[in-house]
Amino acid sequence: MEQEIFTLKWTGAELQLIDQTLLPCNIAYVEMGSYEAVFDAIRHMKVRGAPAIGIAAAYGMVLAAKAAPAQDPSSFQAALEQAACRLVESRPTAVNLRWAVERMLDKAKTSQALAIPAIIQALEQEAIRIHDEDRRINRAIGAHLLSLLKNGAGVLTHCNAGALATSEYGTALSVFYTALEKGIRLKAYADETRPRLQGARLTAFELLHNGVDVTLICDNMAAVVMAQGKIDAVIVGCDRIAANGDTANKIGTFSVSILAKHFGIPLYIAAPTPTIDMACPTGADIPIEERAAEEITMVEQVRIAPAGIKTFNPAFDVTPAAHITAIVTEKGIVVPPFGENLKKLFQ
Ligand code: MRU
Repeated sequence: MEQEIFTLKWTGAELQLIDQTLLPCNIAYVEMGSYEAVFDAIRHMKVRGAPAIGIAAAYGMVLAAKAAPAQDPSSFQAALEQAACRLVESRPTAVNLRWAVERMLDKAKTSQALAIPAIIQALEQEAIRIHDEDRRINRAIGAHLLSLLKNGAGVLTHCNAGALATSEYGTALSVFYTALEKGIRLKAYADETRPRLQGARLTAFELLHNGVDVTLICDNMAAVVMAQGKIDAVIVGCDRIAANGDTANKIGTFSVSILAKHFGIPLYIAAPTPTIDMACPTGADIPIEERAAEEITMVEQVRIAPAGIKTFNPAFDVTPAAHITAIVTEKGIVVPPFGENLKKLFQ
């Protein structure tokens, strides 16, 4: 029997996560019983992808609430705020993480008249709601994206914005699953996505596992597949969209956007509204995470660059709004001018 694969599951007592650092060779689940363990899993990318880390952090807040001192409301609240600060520090670029943690803190505030066990219950229900909303968001994004494509289209994607990055289905990859359901043929091209190889390890794995026609390429082959006419659209996810439409996503997305512009190929950003940060004016205001040098100098345990070499390892880059054809949200398709049209989503 084929093994069930899920990204995250709340058992009522613990958060179960597929350990994404072990994919595609090992399918193993880890159980988180404390918010510190959730922090660790996010920081070390056992769970990754903007919506998934938001959901994990929301459950992290439930675990923090369950472990908080229950004798008086002010120490309970202080413990929650401490956990919130810690969880938000785990990864800085994806705004979904902060969004989810702030939503949990708001829930604690609006429930403060209740007894502590009832507040904990309200927090648990709120985390489950965040998780369920993400499922609906993904399905809606998939349907909107599919309306932009013709049967037989070739679609290039970068990094992993699939089921593994969300509750299920994904944002950018939801279009392939929706197409399968409707009997529409799409051809996926997955960039391998150096240095963490989310394209090779995760996107190729989940699309293949689910029966999508997928071809893996190295990052430096994107221009060739575009020049050969194999790509009709580029669809990627995002970690934060600024109010002017500038979009942070996995490092390399900016380069792909330049290629797409060069070849006149539309670039669609698959964006749940919690990833849109209207308080962030432009891409220059988005904090970009830098990660360890070993992600570049080592592959698994093998050194591939000389010891002592200088490195620069930003985990994300910013694609300028001018390179983006449309931002596809669960509420509909947003076209330029993004400054004006993104605002309308929140009115
Ligand atoms: O560093 P990662 O793997 O967390 O980066 C993930 C991405 O950049 C995704 O494209 C983005 O979070 C969108 S996931 C729906």
